[in-house]
Amino acid sequence: MKTVLVTGALGQIGSELVAKLRSLYGDNHIVGTDIRSDADSPVVCGGPFEILDVTDGERFLEIGKKYHVDAVVHLAAVLSATGEAKPQFAWHLNMTGLVNGLETARQLQCQLFTPSSIAAFGPSTPKDSTPQDTIQRPNTIYGVTKVSGELLCDYYHQRFGVDTRGVRFPGLISYVTPPGGGTTDYAVEIYYHAVKEKKYTSYIAAGTKMDMMYMPDALEAIVQLMEADPARLIHRNAFNITAMSFAPEDVAAAIQARIPEFLLTYDVDPVRQRIAESWPNSIDARCAVDEWGFQPRYDLESMTKDMLEKLVSRGR
Ligand code: SER
Repeated sequence: MKTVLVTGALGQIGSELVAKLRSLYGDNHIVGTDIRSDADSPVVCGGPFEILDVTDGERFLEIGKKYHVDAVVHLAAVLSATGEAKPQFAWHLNMTGLVNGLETARQLQCQLFTPSSIAAFGPSTPKDSTPQDTIQRPNTIYGVTKVSGELLCDYYHQRFGVDTRGVRFPGLISYVTPPGGGTTDYAVEIYYHAVKEKKYTSYIAAGTKMDMMYMPDALEAIVQLMEADPARLIHRNAFNITAMSFAPEDVAAAIQARIPEFLLTYDVDPVRQRIAESWPNSIDARCAVDEWGFQPRYDLESMTKDMLEKLVSRGR
């Protein structure tokens, strides 16, 4: 049974991925790490957990050695809107963290999965059906770290034989741990507000389409790509994946189908709007489908049904 080290384990993806990986590979085989602890979190009390600042390369390697890890899932990162507020910090955390993850993987000869993002594209990228291989000139620091990360992961694979793999995640929607500091966060907040207040003010303008995915599909994609037969992989860092593409009014309509009184208003944030406009309207995930069988299960309608039911049952 393989042992996996997960960074950013208390974050939006990590908190759910650790639970899924523990159910697949056994509680003791998944080592959660984060810069902070949370005694109430199942990530901390349900199996091995270590405090790790990913910019500390020695500690990263030490934890990897202590648990004899076979794979690193490196999730710790600053997202797009926080990145624009603190560009130097975003570069430092995202790049130094990744270099330390790659060095740990190289020295322990293990696999490394790290997510890229739709943010790896920019204003000069074709906006509709954005191809796997295309122009990548992002104009956010977050996007710059994501393109740099993709290149660095490919380099470590070619130069050192490290088994690096990654996906370009769209906005991820979930109900366990909220995201923080991203541009697509509105698509999560809108559900929380719909359940609590029956209204939401969007900082993203009407008509702004972005790719999105429900968390269960994102987790399944990580596991599937990490397990994929390497002989089938033409690409590695990183695969376009998407489940749906929508603008704020589309998700509002899906919510109104279940909560008719739900009201959407707008108060556009120029920083996040500019970021959103620099990203694709919808990306083409065909390479992920062909090379490792990516197949999302949720569309806007089925995700909305599940999100609202889960938030209501959790009393959010
Ligand atoms: N969800 C991220 C963000 O909005 C994109 O990767 O920053």
